[in-house]
Amino acid sequence: MFVRLLSLLSMMCFSISALATELEVLHWWTSGGETRSAQLLKSMMEEQGFSWKDFAVAGGGGESAMLVLKARAVSGNPPTAAQIKGHDIQEWAKLGFLTNLDGVAQQDQWDALLPDLVSDLMKYQGKYVAVPVNIHRANWLWANPAIFHKVGVDYPSTLDEFFVAADAIKAAGYLPLAHGSESWQDVTLFESVALAVLGKEKYRKAFVDLDMDTLSGEQMVAVFRYFQKFRDYIDPEAEGREWFVSTSMVGNGEAAMQLMGDWAKGEFTATGKVAGKDYVCLPAPGTGGIFSYNIDSFVFFKSPDGIQKEAQEALAQSIMAKPFQKEFNAAKGSLPVRTDIPLDSFDRCSKSSVSAYKQAHNHDNLVPSLSQSMATTTYVLSAISDVVTNFFHDPFSDPEKAADRLARAVKAAL
Ligand code: GAL
Repeated sequence: MFVRLLSLLSMMCFSISALATELEVLHWWTSGGETRSAQLLKSMMEEQGFSWKDFAVAGGGGESAMLVLKARAVSGNPPTAAQIKGHDIQEWAKLGFLTNLDGVAQQDQWDALLPDLVSDLMKYQGKYVAVPVNIHRANWLWANPAIFHKVGVDYPSTLDEFFVAADAIKAAGYLPLAHGSESWQDVTLFESVALAVLGKEKYRKAFVDLDMDTLSGEQMVAVFRYFQKFRDYIDPEAEGREWFVSTSMVGNGEAAMQLMGDWAKGEFTATGKVAGKDYVCLPAPGTGGIFSYNIDSFVFFKSPDGIQKEAQEALAQSIMAKPFQKEFNAAKGSLPVRTDIPLDSFDRCSKSSVSAYKQAHNHDNLVPSLSQSMATTTYVLSAISDVVTNFFHDPFSDPEKAADRLARAVKAAL
């Protein structure tokens, strides 16, 4: 009897200590470049004696990952950590699910190391409840230089120039734009067009302030009109294509351009493509000077008796540590969140991104990415996504009606 009790106790201790050192981490980094980047974090944690249970849910933009996470959290079994960002951080914190990270944040001086834009997003009621990973820029155009050279057109810097170049590329028998069919990809394209047409003030009014007149106004009609034109440059096989497949099409010369955030650069890097030679990075047409930011971050779920707090804090500290910030972001295509990481070894696109960030910061040109949950809540974003995607996939869609629908959908989601 006594022996059985002892072995039961030792099994319990074993499973408690196993739980204390286990990190189950939910994320949606499943493409080639993303997996390579996530692997760096896994190795760093394993080197410190933690066991990494990878909870990867495929699907760029994280929509599927968020659904899975909600189901796990509601059933009382959330993972140790999860990739959550933007407005979702506040939502989960409000519900009382998240571990307070203020202890490590103060010890490691996160306030001094992070730009306010980043630290503000990581806090709930003044306390850190998330750790930031990187700063991505969403409004990029990726282009294949060989195709532009063969066709003899210039890289576009405005929307009108885009259509001129795309027409010439199409006439020469190349696919102008690699695109996929997931709604977040449509919203990524829509957001760049909206930034170009509306400019930063009206963009903020529409998607941050959710101003009804701006959402339904004449300029929004113009946004939909331009957006609609992009359909002419996409192939029928776009249906069901994932974003990173589009990226590889640009890298391999199967398509001339892709409008996508700089996680695309992680894909180029992972397949040995070189910036400036195999691909070029330019601001999305009409958005030069503006930096639409997307900040990845992780949150940590409260565990029974705080048993996982130590492991969670170790993960948070590793994410903020210099070696991780440097290596991970060079692989991922993003910028480090810390302002004290030298970027000499980063490629020319990262260097151009950091100078774009600084200039945008100085001229009040930083805007939150709509498609990446930085501008508004998930509810509003999903209402906007429905309108945008339905419009883009309906050959008979009407820009006037779309702007009206957009405003009504947002109103209903508030
Ligand atoms: C974004 C995420 C990026 C990127 C992309 C595609 O939501 O912030 O890090 O990987 O999805 O999966």
